[in-house]
Amino acid sequence: MKRTLGTCYYPEHWPEEIWEADARRMKEAGLTWVRIGEFAWSRLEPAPGDLQFDWLDRAIDTLGSAGLKVVLGTPTATPPRWVVDKHPDMIAVDASGQPRKFGSRRHYCFSHGGFQAESDRIVTVVAERYGQNPHVAAWQTDNEYGCHDTTISYSVAARDAFRVWLEQRYGTIGALNRAWGNVFWSMEYGTFAEIDLPNLTVTEPNPSHTLAFRRFSSDQVVSFNKRQVEIIRANSDAPISHNYMGRITDFDHFKVGDDLEIATWDSYPLGFLEDRVGASAEHQRAYARQGDPDFQAFHHDLYRAVGKGRWWVMEQQPGPVNWAPYNPAPLPGMMRLWAWEAYAHGAEAVCYFRWRQAPFAQEQMHAGMLRPDNADAPALIEARQVADELRAAPDVSVRQAPVALIFDYDADFAWATQPHGAGLSYFQLVFDAYKALRKLGLSIDILRPETRDFSGYKIVAAPGMITMPNDLKTALAECDAEVVLGPRSAARDADMVIPVPLPPDMPGLDVTVAQVESLRPDMPMPLKGGGAFTGYREELESAAEALFELETGEPAAVSSDHLTYVGGWCDDVAWRRLFEHLCAKADIPTFDLNDGVRCRDTEGTRIWINYGSKAAETPAGPIAAAGVLFEKL
Ligand code: GAL
Repeated sequence: MKRTLGTCYYPEHWPEEIWEADARRMKEAGLTWVRIGEFAWSRLEPAPGDLQFDWLDRAIDTLGSAGLKVVLGTPTATPPRWVVDKHPDMIAVDASGQPRKFGSRRHYCFSHGGFQAESDRIVTVVAERYGQNPHVAAWQTDNEYGCHDTTISYSVAARDAFRVWLEQRYGTIGALNRAWGNVFWSMEYGTFAEIDLPNLTVTEPNPSHTLAFRRFSSDQVVSFNKRQVEIIRANSDAPISHNYMGRITDFDHFKVGDDLEIATWDSYPLGFLEDRVGASAEHQRAYARQGDPDFQAFHHDLYRAVGKGRWWVMEQQPGPVNWAPYNPAPLPGMMRLWAWEAYAHGAEAVCYFRWRQAPFAQEQMHAGMLRPDNADAPALIEARQVADELRAAPDVSVRQAPVALIFDYDADFAWATQPHGAGLSYFQLVFDAYKALRKLGLSIDILRPETRDFSGYKIVAAPGMITMPNDLKTALAECDAEVVLGPRSAARDADMVIPVPLPPDMPGLDVTVAQVESLRPDMPMPLKGGGAFTGYREELESAAEALFELETGEPAAVSSDHLTYVGGWCDDVAWRRLFEHLCAKADIPTFDLNDGVRCRDTEGTRIWINYGSKAAETPAGPIAAAGVLFEKL
């Protein structure tokens, strides 16, 4: 597989006279891809029906003639002012009932029929005009669905569509009342038309209601995307992608991905560390110029699964960004390291965002590959180095990892609906498990929740998967891998009700969660032998062997043959002990990587990277700060 580089370019931001020089310079730097168009609607259609596509024709031609391949974005993330004036109620509404006004981007509600028709119309124009253009080698639908909290909208359009969705799912209002337990607090409905959205209630709404609305909102993104895909596909054979984000989980990316050929994501390691990783201040300080050593890798593995093997980094941080609480510059070498890390996880392309820093508007403090005065910025220099290295490098191809981790967006919706204790999030739980595995030097495949064939894996972990269909339980019970479940695995039925027999009701493992409790941050429950449960713990009734015990002597994790259930939220030490034990049992060699050094195995090569700010040692030899090391296997 040939690995490539690219950038994101906005020809509409710059005088046409400089497009050609820009294109030449991109090509000279070793770039293959240039993504354009995703925010250009006001220049493509300045007034209703006034289509002005000549400039985009020329831009595509200029870029393509320089030897670049174009990724063309549909412009629906930024409907111009006139679209909003034509459909004032297309605006998304926040949970407090406030409309989210025009003046930035993503100001639309996925459920609004008028906006859906505008989207169909503009996407049709774009797809018909460029579907056969030889320079358009890939597509991007919209831009970052869900960015700025825009998946969920409490609009009238959403309410009406939600009622239809509920009727399709439940058939009769009696079935819905029973499934949700609406007899509680006299919440029973007489018709679907009586059901409102679960915001602005006096106290918390029924969790079944909230979860249904989360699922509905996710499905609205899936169907909005599918409409665009169908239009593009009718006009073009080029692959279609969408650019997802870091730790945005409020729609099911696997379901959106089912309609696409390629998953891409936008990787901003330093912004994420300040904003989304959920790390201590000390960790943030240590990695302020490098990013968290595991956060990017987690998403690379996640999006490889979402893309069914085909994935890119569509936007790579190029220097300081503008949007995090603090925005330091990367350590020299990191923009090269991030690219190699992505290739190690199987990325086909890494595109730096953006080509030239814009001196105007919201992102004027966001670096680019060029400074606003056209001089090379550090990202361009490091990208050139990667391009040179790629010319000389052997192929980096993906191979199956020994360890699999299931990630389930629906479980994330359910945890968010009913966290039970402050700070308990499904994403964090799975990410904590992932980090512990990485610090043992393991390569990991993330699997979607519908997976039933686990052959080839030595360990399969599905922590926190709150609803587990019976055929998944059976597949796990029957597979050859060491299987890790809990906490909260199979804890609710599909409608967010506690099942009886009590959870996890797992074939082959005698364990019952008798009671659950959430814990204050200052009341960890230590485990015998090291580590602790923090934040959340379950009381286990079990005749199986206790793998871990609380210091009080109660069982904390139990196991029988190849099945293990963990009854609490493990701290780092507890996760590490658990996985060390299972790796020894499954005969998987491990390393002890506690600082910024990480590795990933590809076919024939182990790629070492150092997120640390100092040189370090690896089992394959010394590695510089922000360094990359290739070890033949
Ligand atoms: C992404 C977005 C880009 C740009 C970038 C800035 O979320 O897709 O358009 O805003 O962030 O870091």
